[in-house]
Amino acid sequence: MNSAVDVAEKWDIDAIRAQFPTLNREVHGQPLIYLDTAASAQRPLAVIDAITDFYRNHNANVHRGVHSLSQEATELWENARTTMRDFIGASSCKEIIFTRGMTEGVNLVAQSFIRPRVGPGDKILITAMEHHSNIVPWQLVCEQTGAELVVAPVNQRGEVDLDGFSQMLDERVKILAMMHVSNALGTINPVAEMTRMAKAAGIPVLIDGAQASPHIQVDVQAIGCDFYCVSGHKMYGPTGIGVLYGREQLLEAMPPYHGGGEMIRTVSFEKSTWNDLPSKFEAGTPNIAGGIGLGAAATFIQQIGVENISRHEADLLSYGTQRSLEIDGLNIIGTAADKTGVMSFTIERVHPHDIGTIINHAGVAIRTGHHCAMPILKQFGVAGTARASLGMYNTRQELDVLVEAIVKACKMLR
Ligand code: ALA
Repeated sequence: MNSAVDVAEKWDIDAIRAQFPTLNREVHGQPLIYLDTAASAQRPLAVIDAITDFYRNHNANVHRGVHSLSQEATELWENARTTMRDFIGASSCKEIIFTRGMTEGVNLVAQSFIRPRVGPGDKILITAMEHHSNIVPWQLVCEQTGAELVVAPVNQRGEVDLDGFSQMLDERVKILAMMHVSNALGTINPVAEMTRMAKAAGIPVLIDGAQASPHIQVDVQAIGCDFYCVSGHKMYGPTGIGVLYGREQLLEAMPPYHGGGEMIRTVSFEKSTWNDLPSKFEAGTPNIAGGIGLGAAATFIQQIGVENISRHEADLLSYGTQRSLEIDGLNIIGTAADKTGVMSFTIERVHPHDIGTIINHAGVAIRTGHHCAMPILKQFGVAGTARASLGMYNTRQELDVLVEAIVKACKMLR
């Protein structure tokens, strides 16, 4: 991994790209230009190698064996937990729950923390820009309990209206659940400020950090939130793995979410008792290789330096935005002052799916559609957008190709 440190010092984009084998391939005879990192990032060799090494050399179950392989697997798995603790700034490994991804983290908090605490007359507060995974779990709880889902307004730039938000903070609100960074718009929400406002009103806070952790510094203690969820595959790690951070005191008081092996201390037909944190929330054999891969991804990001990544992506966002405005009829959806590398746009008289399909023939991968965020797109009056989303490996030259490919596609389609 020394190479990653050298890369960070010089910001050697070729060396960074060399870490990602997929970027060498061609699509329809053209070099792949991958601009869909918000949907799922490419994986560096460090992650691929960590997973392969586990399966080739250490494969066994965790926390269940006295034999050497099981102990090695357990050590790798717990080391990954320690890495994730440091990566998001938690104070204890007890606060790091491995999940299947951000979605499972929200569902866990919705069912285990909020469901027992709410009833008719209570409110769950989200923002208008949330991803479906931070809407639907709360709707389920509302159906189960009679609580009400209320939505903080977002302005036409795609920023939370903080005045409107502050007016919604009352004693009936039992949780604020908000995204750190919008996958559809790129907006970076002022989560520390919003958390302070919510906590001042006595409201616990959950943050969906899926689109933040690969792009900007995350420090859960500095933010002051109670829960923070990340997904492995958004941060250059494997799919099917993520982390839920929860404040220890809250996690201790919460009932288990899933029942099964590993999460128990004793089992009898009359009664079972629960294991200590974090095992209480990790029923069954976990995604061991995934967790180890996620730890490798976090280490990779740390070695490159998240501040270097942010700087590089900010440069690309500014360049790409400027270039894309040269396209006739292009309208950017999401123009917040503080954004990560997401360029979501519509083009007059051209359907986003058609653009995505045609530019795929030039090797350019973007996402088109509603980005699992239907309500905010509806607010902008569109059913879907074309979205180019950036990662540490993208370049200005790739954005030039994107713009040229879109211009050609528009000529064909109009
Ligand atoms: N939420 C993912 C995206 O933004 C899938 O594309």
